[in-house]
Amino acid sequence: MANVVVVGAQWGDEGKGKIVDWLSNRADVVARFQGGHNAGHTLVVDGVTYKLSLMPSGVVQGKLSVIGNGVVVDPWAFIEEIEKVRAQGVNITSDLVKVAESATLILPVHRDLDALRENRDDGMKIGTTRRGIGPAYEDKVGRRAVRVIDLADEAALRARVQDLLHHHNALRRGYGQDEYQAEDLVQALLEIAPKILPYADPVWRTLDRAMKAGKHILFEGAQGTMLDVDHGTYPFVTSSNTVAGQASAGTGVGPGKVGYSLGIVKAYTTRVGEGPFPTELHDAMGQRLGERGHEFGVVTGRKRRCGWFDAVLVRQSVRVNGLDGIALTKLDVLDGFPELKVCVGYKLDGERLQRLPAGKEAQAKIEPIYEIMEGWEASTQGARSWADLPAAAVKYVRRIEELIEAPVAMLSTSPERDDVILMQDPFRP
Ligand code: GDP
Ligand code: IMO
Ligand code: MG
Repeated sequence: MANVVVVGAQWGDEGKGKIVDWLSNRADVVARFQGGHNAGHTLVVDGVTYKLSLMPSGVVQGKLSVIGNGVVVDPWAFIEEIEKVRAQGVNITSDLVKVAESATLILPVHRDLDALRENRDDGMKIGTTRRGIGPAYEDKVGRRAVRVIDLADEAALRARVQDLLHHHNALRRGYGQDEYQAEDLVQALLEIAPKILPYADPVWRTLDRAMKAGKHILFEGAQGTMLDVDHGTYPFVTSSNTVAGQASAGTGVGPGKVGYSLGIVKAYTTRVGEGPFPTELHDAMGQRLGERGHEFGVVTGRKRRCGWFDAVLVRQSVRVNGLDGIALTKLDVLDGFPELKVCVGYKLDGERLQRLPAGKEAQAKIEPIYEIMEGWEASTQGARSWADLPAAAVKYVRRIEELIEAPVAMLSTSPERDDVILMQDPFRP
């Protein structure tokens, strides 16, 4: 199979950045297909840490890096990130990074609206990253977005901005905010346009040409399946489809070309922001997972909520993404726990469930049914072969495979690039 798509199978932060960086070695192109700078992907290479939000994780290895039409792009954040990554010694040029001409722009009005909604105190806040992601996608679907290509034509840009502000200023008045002046926004965009336009590209054509030339594409998902706007814990989700199927629509590549679907799965569960989390731990055990796993958000610095592995939820992810295999990450964080719990079903009003119910109220009410597994004392940190793993750790991994009905193709045992055990090469399954 020529191409691979990587998606998060839980609530994000599963370690996608590390795995995409590792797999980049086997790919020619790395393409983002949804989300925006709400993502925070961490790569650690020889002790140097890179934190990427909008840049595909293949940039560090110098791979052609594509930001697809399905991504929402904050032009200021884009330039800032290029400068940050350059300062770390990564060579970024417009030959290396391409942004879809048809990608939607995130503008200051989107950030404002995200914050206005998050600041309310009616118990309905989502706990977003406040990057303007949701409001930008709303405008895209509402057919009033300003897109990358609009930066190339001043008259068209002015018309788009006026149309957009017609909508936003009505909202702003409702929130008791000052109206936005169209000309201020137009001038700000005209100022940044020459910095963005060199990267603008018909990425569907670039990817088509790459495939025809026999190149391998790695599609890099952001967020996770339980944050998908359709398949996740709605309304506590992000505003895009995060599932593997979106790799096709979000870049302009046919669904048959996407190839192997690799789900990234943490060996336990974390979530940042509001919303249901059946296996969440509020005790010392949860605290310990958070400390050992350094569970703090890359983008917002918020503490991540932690809990036991939820096999029901991951099995559902396996199905809705059509996962061919998973990369199980952060196994080392579980070292030294005397016993481990794995959720194998839910209880709801006396009934046993084998799937996550769709309704928000039911999701908040379900109780996990646990299977208890033996922990291990020995260290798995940095392990690079099966033989290095304690028997109980092997048993834990095998039980997970059985429960989620998908094979573990890769196992990650530290943040470092090369601390990986490969069981099945997604590019050559
Ligand atoms: P992403 O959003 O899915 O790319 O994940 P993040 O980068 O937000 O969070 C994952 C965190 O776990 C990062 O700090 C990684 O460096 C780290 N990490 C990734 N894989 C492993 C692993 O196998 N073991 C440990 N201990 N840390 C890991
Ligand atoms: P990566 O790619 C974890 C969460 C936010 C919030 C919800 C909606 O690093 O895995 P948004 O700003 O997208 O409207 O917020 O989604 N969220 C993430 N959680 N990892 C992410 O990305 C996330 N991106 C968004 O915390 O609950
Ligand atoms: Mg992250």
